[in-house]
Amino acid sequence: MYLGILDTPELASAAAAQIVFSLFKKEPNAILGVTTGSTPEGLYAELRAAHARGEFTLANSQAFALDEYVGISADHYERYRNVLRRELVGSRNTGLKNENLHSPNGLVSNSAAVAAQYDRDIRDAGGIDLQILGIGSNGHIGFNEPGGSLVSRTHVTPLSRQTILANARFFGHYPRNVPKTCITQGLGTIMEARILLLLAFGENKAEAVAQLAEGPISARWPATITQMHPEVYVVTDAAAASKLELSELYQERWALKFGA
Ligand code: GLP
Repeated sequence: MYLGILDTPELASAAAAQIVFSLFKKEPNAILGVTTGSTPEGLYAELRAAHARGEFTLANSQAFALDEYVGISADHYERYRNVLRRELVGSRNTGLKNENLHSPNGLVSNSAAVAAQYDRDIRDAGGIDLQILGIGSNGHIGFNEPGGSLVSRTHVTPLSRQTILANARFFGHYPRNVPKTCITQGLGTIMEARILLLLAFGENKAEAVAQLAEGPISARWPATITQMHPEVYVVTDAAAASKLELSELYQERWALKFGA
């Protein structure tokens, strides 16, 4: 695991974007796994800016969403597919084509079948080259909440109370308006991506980041499973790194790989 600690979310997003750009220099058709939430917004802005400069494009790529709410209406502003369309799709964004943005279909009643199909779709496309991730303050990635299987496949699952409260800010601050169920790539699915790029900003992520890097691998903190992945980049701001014991060591390793 490489852990980069940058002063601000802006600098961290720029550093994360460089990791995406260096992959696309080598593999212009790379397949991206994309997440939602506030955390990746700066990274997506970097990708859009690079696209506007003609230096980067997803025009020839496919992207797979990490998760989706179940039972949310097709045109809901917070439906993850719609969020990702606004952030990434189209020539004014990153060039990604709408038909190349894949997301679990949370609109149908048989979401278990949808979940199984989603894993097959990822596999049939050749697998995800780089999966962008955020992290919940309770250590969840995607919607893999504490206590779940560390080897799960894409599946339907209820949201924890903590996550419903955290996501209420996207639903007029009314927890009752947050969907109670979602489809998420499982931890086993996420671990099959060839590169993981996880971003975390702010003090409320500090405990989760400390556990992610330094805690025992445990379903209590689902993101700890990424310690078993061969190529993980965790990029944080100073606040999210504030509970790490070995931050100096991580800074040294990061500087050796990417320059100071
Ligand atoms: C959500 C998403 C996660 C995301 C996390 C953190 O519930 N399902 O994929 O990483 O919560 O969100 P944020 O980046 O807004 O803090």
